[in-house]
Amino acid sequence: MCGIVGYIGFRRADKVAVSALKRLEYRGYDSWGVAVKSNDEIKVYKRVGAIGDVSQFELCEGTISIGHTRWATHGKPSDVNAHPHTDCNGKIAVVHNGIISNFQKLRESLEREGHVFKSETDTEVIPHLIEKFIDSGLDFENAVKETLKHLKGSYAFVALSSTEDKLVACKYKSPLILGIGDNEYFVASDVPAILEYTNRVVYLHDGDTVVLTRDSYEIYKDGKKVNREVEIVPWSVEQAEKGGFEHFMLKEIHETPKVIEDTLLEYVSDEIELDVGFTAGISDVIFVACGTSYHASLIGKYLIEKLDEIPVRVEYASEFNYHNAPLSRSLVIGITQSGETADTLEALRKAQKFGARTLAITNVLGSSVTRIADVILYTRAGPEICVAATKTFIAQLIVLYVIALRLSLLSRSEVNEILADLKLLPEKVRAILDMEDYIRKIAEELANYENMMYIGRGLGYPIALEGALKMKEISYIHAEGYPAGELKHGPFALLGKQTPVVACVLRDETYDTMLGNIKEVKARNSPVVALTDENDSEAEKFVDYVIKVPSTNVLLTPVTYSVVLQLLAYYAARSRGCEIDKPRHLAKSVTVE
Ligand code: G6P
Repeated sequence: MCGIVGYIGFRRADKVAVSALKRLEYRGYDSWGVAVKSNDEIKVYKRVGAIGDVSQFELCEGTISIGHTRWATHGKPSDVNAHPHTDCNGKIAVVHNGIISNFQKLRESLEREGHVFKSETDTEVIPHLIEKFIDSGLDFENAVKETLKHLKGSYAFVALSSTEDKLVACKYKSPLILGIGDNEYFVASDVPAILEYTNRVVYLHDGDTVVLTRDSYEIYKDGKKVNREVEIVPWSVEQAEKGGFEHFMLKEIHETPKVIEDTLLEYVSDEIELDVGFTAGISDVIFVACGTSYHASLIGKYLIEKLDEIPVRVEYASEFNYHNAPLSRSLVIGITQSGETADTLEALRKAQKFGARTLAITNVLGSSVTRIADVILYTRAGPEICVAATKTFIAQLIVLYVIALRLSLLSRSEVNEILADLKLLPEKVRAILDMEDYIRKIAEELANYENMMYIGRGLGYPIALEGALKMKEISYIHAEGYPAGELKHGPFALLGKQTPVVACVLRDETYDTMLGNIKEVKARNSPVVALTDENDSEAEKFVDYVIKVPSTNVLLTPVTYSVVLQLLAYYAARSRGCEIDKPRHLAKSVTVE
């Protein structure tokens, strides 16, 4: 997920690009760049770092520009890998959001034809292809259109030529809008980028190519000119950055279906494509992680032990520092969405010192953990702005399913069945998002309490832990996650009218015992909210609120139930007027031990 912009008009184009990019930084912020057409030359400026840190920026006079803020997917964040990318002679510049899945083949064939590449990115094939077709006699616009025929994957890109007062932008499976001003035009990944200049917008369709000149625009699809409706955006600039959502947290929860699809796309086509050489000869797995990633690890333990019969233990990364035994046959997996959590990095270094093989699961390309672990697996969640992790947690679970299924002792058809269920998860999550209003009402009741318990059994236990963590970190309600069976060994003393209990009921071997535990809780007068399968009609008979979660394979309930619990925490915090995206005393990335 990156942010792109293109401008043609009458203003200083370098400044327009920078102000637009600052509003797109939520889409990625590891590096940025701008290209401006000045006379018959393209001037490019690109750097590692966040554009938000730049106060004054001037590149050169010029009224046509393109710009990019990057969230690296191919090639680590560096000056060279930052966009815009150019052809051999610097006559064509391109900014791109998406992934060109066949870039390796394209690159090899362009290199054989003499094209020299500077970066490690997939994007760089685009300016080289445009150059190739211009050299073969096409004009700039037609060279871009010809280039499209060779690209596979997803893209929204804008191309700039040094010799023409024109921008050509194309969209396929990545977002791109056209902004229409008075004698000026914009293209951008999202509305906030341009709202300062115009609120007249065309939402481009997949397969659209838009050609912008100083005084007009034309949209083409399948070789024919098409008309698209111009819409008026009713948002303020500030509202638009969050895509109309009140908080980044809610926006990020709503991105979950796409995140599941993108992360699955990375590892699964018809079957799982993951080289598991890193597990050869191992005797056991140890997870090390903090916070939400620790809870993902507990779910990973359950999956790997159940599906693969490999012994697993999970350690808080901060406690692993006191580990003292050889690990020569262990695989140590560090889960860290940021890739920067000091305790997790240190735990992985410690594991290596004791002879373990290490694997990291992270969301951030080029983050510190990628320079430590032996093997890296990426989640594809895009940048997460809210301090409380939501979509990145779900993406971690998806990678854990992929690993556990790839190593699984199940038959091929059993694995395929679970894979099919995994592919249905985006749909299930969309159905949960449709229940938002109902969940909000329950959350608004819970917002009146100061203490809560979350309980579960088996796979339901880590779900409960993560639900409680979400609630306490953003609503400041004291919430504890407990194995349901442990309540009677102490926490019962805290139950009563003033302590609601959220029960995660799964339709597996824990079901009957869990219902028994809920009855015990009810007998002590605690209000109960039960999450259960949509086909269950038992739990609702004796709880105060029931949330019926769309049915899925029980192994996948951590995904569906967690989205419900994220919404529950969000709306409780909102009702209490908390600063949801930046909870007090917390940080997104904890880089001290
Ligand atoms: C901080 C964040 C949590 C996160 C934890 C681990 O405490 O507030 O949301 O779960 O760090 O972060 P990591 O980047 O290592 O997953």
